[in-house]
Amino acid sequence: MKLSTPEFRAMQSLPRKWGQRFFEIPMFKRMGLHLQNKDVLEIGCGSGYGAYLLSSLHPKSYIGIDLMEEQIALAKKQYPQFHFIVQAAEDLSQFADASKDTVVIFGVLHHIPNWRNVINEIIRVLKPGGSFFLEEPRGVDVKVFDALFRWGHPDTDFGLKALDTHLTQRGLVIQSRQWTPLLTMYHTIKPTDSSPTRSA
Ligand SMILES: C[S@@+](CC[C@H](N)C(=O)[O-])C[C@H]1O[C@@H](n2cnc3c(N)ncnc32)[C@H](O)[C@@H]1O
Repeated sequence: MKLSTPEFRAMQSLPRKWGQRFFEIPMFKRMGLHLQNKDVLEIGCGSGYGAYLLSSLHPKSYIGIDLMEEQIALAKKQYPQFHFIVQAAEDLSQFADASKDTVVIFGVLHHIPNWRNVINEIIRVLKPGGSFFLEEPRGVDVKVFDALFRWGHPDTDFGLKALDTHLTQRGLVIQSRQWTPLLTMYHTIKPTDSSPTRSA
C-alpha cells in the first residue's frame, strides 16, 4: 500500500537515513549480510538509500522494486547508477525461479495486506542456500505510530508471531533474529535441498 504523506516525508528524513546506515546495516552485517558477488533484490526500496548502502557491499547485481512511482522517481533521480522499477512485491513474476542470492527488506511487509504472498514469492526467486534479510516492527508498534503520528497503515493481521509462523511453515530457516526497540531483524535461509515453490 502507498505511504501516507507523513510517513512518506519521514522516510526521506535524515534520522531515517542515519538509522539505516549506522544501525540497521551494521546489525545485518553482524547477522551475516555479505553481498560480494551476489545477485540482490531489495523489496520496497523507497527512495533508494538502501541501494546506496547495499551497493557499498559490492554485490554482482542489485535491483530495487517499490510500489510507489513517487519513491522510484526519487530513487532514480538521486541514484541514477542503480536499477529501480515500479513493481508490487506480491508479483515477482518478472524474476525467474532461483535467480537471487539475497533478498532484503527494510520495513515493508507491515504495509502489505497480502504479506504472506510476498514471502512465498521471495522463496520462489531465492536460490537454494540463499538469504532473506528482513526487518519489521511489531504489530503493536505500528498501531502506536498510527495513533501518535497518523501514518495510516493498512489494517492487516501482520505481527511478528504470524511472521515467524509463516517463515517457518514455508520452509525458511531462521538463522538469527535480533530484537531492537523499534524493529526486529531476521536472517533467514532457504535450505539447499528445497525446490522452488509457486505462490499459494
Ligand atoms: C516504511 S517504507 C520503507 C522504505 C525503505 N525501505 C526504508 O527503509 O526507508 C515502506 C516502503 O514499502 C513500499 N511498499 C508498500 N507496499 C508495497 C508493495 N505492495 N510492493 C512494493 N513496495 C511496497 C512503500 O512504497 C514504501 O516505499
